[in-house]
Amino acid sequence: MNKGKGEGKEVHSKESTEIMNPRMQEIGMLDTIGPRSLEVIEEDCEVMSACETRPYPLVVDRAKGSVVTDLDGREYIDFVAGIAVLNAGHSNPAVKAAISAQLEKMTHCCSADFFAEPPLKLARKLRELSGYSKVFYCNSGTEAVEAAIKLAIWKTKKQNLIGFYNSFHGRTLGSLSLTSSKARQKEHFPGIRTVHTHYAYCYRCPLNLEYPGCGVECVKQIENLIFRKELNPEDTAAVFVEPIQGEGGYIVPPPEFHKELRKICNDNDVLLAADEVQAGCFRTGLFLAMENFGVKPDISCLAKALGAGLPMGAILADASLMDWPPGVHSNTFGGNLLASAGSLAALEFMEKENIGAHAQSLGSHIQQRLRELQDSYPCIGDVRGLGLMIGAEIVKPDKSIDPATRNRIVREGYKQGIMLLGCGESVIRFSPPLVMTEEEADAGLERFEEAVKRGVG
Ligand SMILES: Cc1ncc(COP(=O)(O)O)c(C=O)c1O
Repeated sequence: MNKGKGEGKEVHSKESTEIMNPRMQEIGMLDTIGPRSLEVIEEDCEVMSACETRPYPLVVDRAKGSVVTDLDGREYIDFVAGIAVLNAGHSNPAVKAAISAQLEKMTHCCSADFFAEPPLKLARKLRELSGYSKVFYCNSGTEAVEAAIKLAIWKTKKQNLIGFYNSFHGRTLGSLSLTSSKARQKEHFPGIRTVHTHYAYCYRCPLNLEYPGCGVECVKQIENLIFRKELNPEDTAAVFVEPIQGEGGYIVPPPEFHKELRKICNDNDVLLAADEVQAGCFRTGLFLAMENFGVKPDISCLAKALGAGLPMGAILADASLMDWPPGVHSNTFGGNLLASAGSLAALEFMEKENIGAHAQSLGSHIQQRLRELQDSYPCIGDVRGLGLMIGAEIVKPDKSIDPATRNRIVREGYKQGIMLLGCGESVIRFSPPLVMTEEEADAGLERFEEAVKRGVG
């Protein structure tokens, strides 16, 4: 991998100037960036709402495949993919061609009001890939979850929900009711009544039990505890679950977890909705992550990678469930013509290239390399994942969480030329474009090792 043009150039430090915006001070490491990047960060910190978090001062400019270039010409190996969005790779030629062709014809019509081919062709593909018969479009993950909540409530005429601790389902008020990832995200906001229960976080079992002897008691608590003490199934519209918890820490439940959940939902006449927003679209190898567990939920939510970089969300369900009448739910941009064209091209590309199989084999390779690092760096307490959704949990010698070291490693990674992001309380996620090559992954992991070495201090 070539070092970028920006390397070795004059370095600008704002760290010592008296008038520096406090936001910039917080981001820090400004002595590592070039002049153009510095200019953007300065203005951004003035103009943009401070509610966004920025882990390091990277100003992106362009990208191809699995490599991102910043505004001053420095290259980074991307282990983030826009948070599991660029599954088909940055600047994928097939996606670009499809979007450009559609751009020449028409960008938008409001598919809620007018018929058009691109959203229909995409719906056909989604049916074929997922086995569901009906599709509803929206623009983002939170909107997909919101639509699923509304469909579940509308269909069952029941108004309460069950979700899991550590889950992330979005930030609008309905999906935020389900989210239980960080208290900060819910500060002062009201919501739909939702009872949360434990996910199978086996590395730190919330019930202090050992798998497999536990018999996945965590999920059984829905029947053993919630339905007996807290919420009658007759008042419960749906259980919402992530196939693998994403923002909560890339937590992979054991194989029987989702099967048991499916059974509990069936036995109690409660709908099961899967939030595939982060795990879906071949990231775990199969189109839907739930397929890895042999479970078909009543509703599946998609977004992120579905749009291949353009805003796009969808929910999938069978016709017997998605039979709500005209006007009950809708939006302006769902099924947008450009997004639909790009999305279809990305899905066709990933199918044709058998990207799912590549995600599985590269994922095993990356996990193996990370496990090898555990011997030399015991701060890597746990390595887990499915396909290219991999988490490395950073811990103190007594196995307790170590967010400070995690954050230092992420920032050191940036200095070494890799894009990393944290998730959960103390986890580093690896969710690269699914087109990443083994050579790129190895080069990135070498930089990661250096970042760990420096981050541990
Ligand atoms: C599992 C899951 N659901 C929903 C969302 C919300 O998606 P969006 O940010 O597009 O609203 C996210 C975002 O990270 C997610 O990971």
